[in-house]
Amino acid sequence: MRWGRRGATAAAAPPLPRTAVELRDVTHAYGERTVLAGVSLTLTEARIGVIGANGSGKSTFARLLNGLVVPTAGTVLVDGLDTRTQVREVRRRVGFVFQDPDAQIVHPTVAEDVAFGLTNQGVPADEIARRVDEVLVQYGLDGHRDHPAHLLSGGQKQLLAIAGVLVMEPQRVVFDEPTTLLDLGNTRRVARVVDGLEQDVVVVTHHLDLLAAFDRVLVFEDGRVAADGTPAETVPWYVARCG
Ligand SMILES: Nc1ncnc2c1ncn2[C@@H]1O[C@H](COP(=O)(O)OP(=O)(O)OP(=O)(O)O)[C@@H](O)[C@H]1O
Ligand SMILES: [Mg+2]
Repeated sequence: MRWGRRGATAAAAPPLPRTAVELRDVTHAYGERTVLAGVSLTLTEARIGVIGANGSGKSTFARLLNGLVVPTAGTVLVDGLDTRTQVREVRRRVGFVFQDPDAQIVHPTVAEDVAFGLTNQGVPADEIARRVDEVLVQYGLDGHRDHPAHLLSGGQKQLLAIAGVLVMEPQRVVFDEPTTLLDLGNTRRVARVVDGLEQDVVVVTHHLDLLAAFDRVLVFEDGRVAADGTPAETVPWYVARCG
């Protein structure tokens, strides 16, 4: 069970344009409390993992990447677009999948939920119908298209949340602990989906074994990047730090 590089499905389609995310001396505080400090990074790799202890700043970092959180100081640029001032364009490039799919699922039926973002973007109705159908088939949810979204199982909800992001065709997808609430079977299923994505990804996770084939792993510690390298370099270092 590993999340690797882009899957074989990418071979047939033209490659997606790559998205580079740059953080320049980023600090973030919630009120008086600084939870990220002095983070400068350029993210270009296809598969980037983010690990670290609870409260080390991973989710805050992940949310900075598509403007869900804007930095208190410093700048986050997505292909040169500033998340502080160009958030709409940024979110077209970078999608975000929450840990808890209930936070992301807002519409009564499965198909309506997936269509939501496209409707918001003013995509024509026939194109919405086509793209929604495509993505539901892709994630094994076509048999549920008119079912109430809240009655899906945990794993199906997570797949629905992923489908709702991917239907928007972002170039990079940020996942904040996509498997934490799932059982082993659904963890594997979601892992396979992530593995097969043509899109570049950033995955925050406590499931370290899933990152073995990633290009790069960032280790957060007390709001800073304490290690940055290949999984072979960073994961054992992090495990040793955990004692
Ligand atoms: N909305 C918020 N308001 C105030 N403090 C927050 C908020 N969100 C996070 N924090 C604080 O910021 C710090 C970093 O939180 P963050 O959620 O980024 O950590 P994390 O590494 O994702 O942790 P976990 O592994 O538990 O998900 C924590 O101390 C947390 O309490
Ligand atoms: Mg978190």
